[in-house]
Amino acid sequence: MGDVRRSGLLAALATAAMVAASGSWAAEIEGAAALADAEAGKRVWNQTAGCVRCHGWAGDGTAEGPGFPAGANLRKVVLDATALKEIIRCGVPGSGMPSFSRNAYGTMACFGMTAAQVGQQKPPAGEVSLADTQVDNLVAYLLAKVMNRGAVTKEVCIDYYGPTNAFCNRY
Ligand code: HEC
Repeated sequence: MGDVRRSGLLAALATAAMVAASGSWAAEIEGAAALADAEAGKRVWNQTAGCVRCHGWAGDGTAEGPGFPAGANLRKVVLDATALKEIIRCGVPGSGMPSFSRNAYGTMACFGMTAAQVGQQKPPAGEVSLADTQVDNLVAYLLAKVMNRGAVTKEVCIDYYGPTNAFCNRY
């Protein structure tokens, strides 16, 4: 009985090793995980954190309502994941870009400054404090769909809103 189970396990391991050796399997799983993260990140972008209110659905800096400061055009910005995470958590000192971590300038280091050092320049607190996973997913989304992605086109719109949304007819 033990032997049967063991040989079954060995066979399974051998198969897994063969598939892994072919490379594509691991790459596929990695790709799927990144997509899932970006999908979850899109919901942080347009729902949980409301980034779209100031940056616009496409991230081009078109605020989506009166009363919101126009955010930066993120489609023209090139930032890596580390820099993005710090900006999301800490905001941009002296600007309307809020901080989305309640620990910012406290237990969390922000641009090397404490609350006393950032003083009056301390960014407003965002409406929510994002968990690490939410920030990671949001960054995956920004890197996949927004950062350095250039002008907003009909394709960009359809990718965001889906093929049946009349909103994209304007492009
Ligand atoms: C209340 C409006 C507002 C909201 C909400 C907001 N932002 Fe911003 N954001 C700004 C403004 C204004 C700036 C420009 C800051 C400056 O003057 O440099 C900015 C700057 C940025 C930058 C830096 C761009 C650069 O050129 O370095 C990033 C990245 C960014 N925002 C991402 C986000 C993300 C992601 C969210 C959601 C978690 C978000 N913002 C929510 C207003 C907003």
